[in-house]
Amino acid sequence: MDIQYFGDYMTSTKNVSEMEPDEIKEVVRKAYSRVAKGNVDCSEGTETLVSSSCCEEPTQTSSSCCPPAKTKITRMNLADALGYDTDGMPLSATESFAGCGNPVALASLKEGEVVLDLGSGAGLDMFVASKKVGPSGKVIGVDMTPAMIEKAKKNAEELGITNVEFRFGDIEDMPVDDNSIDVVISNCVINLAPSKAKVFQEAYRVLKLGGRVMVSDMVLSKSLPQEVSDEVVTYTGCIGGAILDEEYLQHMRDAGFADAKIASKAGESIHGAYSAYVTGTKPE
Ligand SMILES: C[S@@+](CC[C@H](N)C(=O)[O-])C[C@H]1O[C@@H](n2cnc3c(N)ncnc32)[C@H](O)[C@@H]1O
Repeated sequence: MDIQYFGDYMTSTKNVSEMEPDEIKEVVRKAYSRVAKGNVDCSEGTETLVSSSCCEEPTQTSSSCCPPAKTKITRMNLADALGYDTDGMPLSATESFAGCGNPVALASLKEGEVVLDLGSGAGLDMFVASKKVGPSGKVIGVDMTPAMIEKAKKNAEELGITNVEFRFGDIEDMPVDDNSIDVVISNCVINLAPSKAKVFQEAYRVLKLGGRVMVSDMVLSKSLPQEVSDEVVTYTGCIGGAILDEEYLQHMRDAGFADAKIASKAGESIHGAYSAYVTGTKPE
């Protein structure tokens, strides 16, 4: 399979529906390597309705990896727009931020807890979570893009944060022990995984009894047209791989989570994609 960039626009010789799961992951890794290297800026977003590279047009109410916005936003101020306190954060911690929510602000993290961030990117959510769990707690980030892991490690060093650990790996097969985590967080990542079922089975496996899932992610209120979900740029922009909200919750229930629900949501885009804050509990 051949993948090419025209400016910020990624194309491939295969449609997403023709790709094997590993090919989809390769496309995602390529896209987020560029984000890690700072090669993609929200201000370069294309005019497509579904957006690209985690950017959006001002008239949309929401889109991939970006919040509702009235003005064109750049990756630099995306975190601020989503309510992050970025004071004291190095530019390098916010310039590759690609979330669609603020899961740590909503998560009820406590001192001493062990948190796992799925698809931790450049580490912003981990750094915010690390303050909440304090020195007696710990935050582990898993990401499959080496450039993101490297960037997150450098950011942690620069910030002097020591209760964080970065692990290279796939969230469909997490490099994490059984029953070892108090809270699983994630920001705009599970939509990118070809098997959401595997992600939630793994999240259930690694959580302690009574452990919580608290994630922000893109989900759909109605199915996407095939021509939209087939575009690689739509997939990597966190829309094409999104699934129906009810289907998402059903994957969580099938994995064993109790109380799986959409706790809050942001505005809807014209394709029915919206940013949801989703929670669930592994029963005691
Ligand atoms: C949209 S970005 C979000 C990054 C970060 N959570 C944030 O809010 O800035 C998606 C991230 O998830 C990672 N990712 C996507 N699929 C993954 C998978 N199957 N396993 C591990 N990491 C994955 C990508 O490498 C990328 O860093």
